[in-house]
Amino acid sequence: MAWNPQQYLKFSGHRLRPAVDLLMRIADIEPRRVADLGAGAGNVTKLLRERWSDAEVVGVEGSPEMVAAGRKAAPDVEWQQQDLASWNPAGQYDLIYSNAALHWLPDHTRLFPSLLGKLSPGGTLAVQMPRNFLAPSHVLIGETALNGPWRSKVEHLVTPPPVEAPSFYHDLLAPLSDHVDIWETEYLQVLEGDNPVKEWTKGTWLTRYLDVLQGSEKAAFEAAYGERVAKAYPKNAAGQTLFPFRRLFMVAQRKP
Ligand SMILES: C[S@@+](CC[C@H](N)C(=O)[O-])C[C@H]1O[C@@H](n2cnc3c(N)ncnc32)[C@H](O)[C@@H]1O
Repeated sequence: MAWNPQQYLKFSGHRLRPAVDLLMRIADIEPRRVADLGAGAGNVTKLLRERWSDAEVVGVEGSPEMVAAGRKAAPDVEWQQQDLASWNPAGQYDLIYSNAALHWLPDHTRLFPSLLGKLSPGGTLAVQMPRNFLAPSHVLIGETALNGPWRSKVEHLVTPPPVEAPSFYHDLLAPLSDHVDIWETEYLQVLEGDNPVKEWTKGTWLTRYLDVLQGSEKAAFEAAYGERVAKAYPKNAAGQTLFPFRRLFMVAQRKP
């Protein structure tokens, strides 16, 4: 999928907040090696760098556009352009942090225990993933995909939500961890501008669909989704759009 750092960062304040909330829940540790998985445009990795200024911090990121943005935002971080599906680092990390990225990877039953295995004993895994896939913002993308001339090109993308319930992650992590803290937060995001929920998903989930379409068909798909989503999230009297967004957080310490 082609990531566009400018589109993604249009809502940087709202997108940064859960990253900071996750960071704040990490205990007072002194890691020597820190990895930020799916590090994106580097604005979050920069905060990891600032908090643990003596640590070796690595930003692992698959998109060349994001890596380029990350190198500018956080030049004193080691950037690795790498698919997380095949990330197999030499040596263990003391902190593996990932904000809004692991929902792009399949097979969480295998992925999460494998990430714990890449930590040093007592090391920390801290993850946030969106869990908003059953909200109109996301359901309407699938609905648009299945109801238009583009159907045969995009229907394979209409898949079950990639993030499971909190208890699923608890059951995976608890046997391998000393302590697991899992919680959800639904942020009531107040957005400004014209059809901002479309602009939001255009920076992330909608891109999967737009990427496989071309020219006028791509524009027609975006317009058809835009019409649906604008109705689902009408402006309030103040001209703002309220966009509730649920996110799942977890912090686990690998057993020593
Ligand atoms: C929604 S962005 C989050 C970026 C950053 N963590 C933040 O909080 O701003 C998700 C990032 O994960 C990256 N990503 C998704 N799947 C990936 C994969 N399989 N390998 C490497 N990076 C991936 C994307 O390129 C994108 O930059």
